[in-house]
Amino acid sequence: MKISVSFLKSNNTYADTIKLINDTSCDYLHVDIMDGLFVPQKNFTPQDLESLLSKNNKPLDIHLMVNSPLDYLDTLTKFHPEYITIHLELEQNIKEIIAKIKKYNIKVGLSIKPETNISKLLPYLSDIDLVLIMAVNPGLGGQSFIPETLNKIKELNKYKDKYYFKTSVDGGINDITISKLLDLNIDIIVSGSYITTQDNYQNQINKLKKNGNHN
Ligand code: DX5
Ligand code: ZN
Repeated sequence: MKISVSFLKSNNTYADTIKLINDTSCDYLHVDIMDGLFVPQKNFTPQDLESLLSKNNKPLDIHLMVNSPLDYLDTLTKFHPEYITIHLELEQNIKEIIAKIKKYNIKVGLSIKPETNISKLLPYLSDIDLVLIMAVNPGLGGQSFIPETLNKIKELNKYKDKYYFKTSVDGGINDITISKLLDLNIDIIVSGSYITTQDNYQNQINKLKKNGNHN
């Protein structure tokens, strides 16, 4: 189980938070981008991201909660992210967006909100590298894990043999909720406030690793 750290909610500035995350043993920096349209909240423009990501050394796991993902591609591709994840709920030609991201040799993720059924993913499972299941409503860090997420993961896992996608769970992950994911074969967990609202990030990551892996 790899750990991707979100810096959406923190006691420090974004830049300082990213630096502190870089100093840990985590596997990815999870970058939540919101446009005020797909979700009410708005954070980074492509210009903001240029300076924000310039000092990051961790592999990037980018989560686009935006209506126009393609507007961000020119900027994001400069940083060679490992994953760019878009939302299935976009009322657009998803296959076309997936193909455009793939052209940059970047892995593509598809994310679903808590109210979206797993069945909606089926037409895309052969085209994508990652499914990011939201365990909270997108928009804010620090929300509680929605328990129904566990059933959705079990349903998704039925398709793991047939296709090659990895799974990721995002939202409300702490040392308690992570233990509920133990037998669900999750590849990447995204955790934010559990780590970034504390002084010692590495300590929090160690606790997640301890409770999230079979010994
Ligand atoms: C929610 C974001 C999540 C979130 C994770 O819209 O996609 O990545 O910030 O933060 P925590 O772990 O605080 O729920
Ligand atoms: Zn996210």
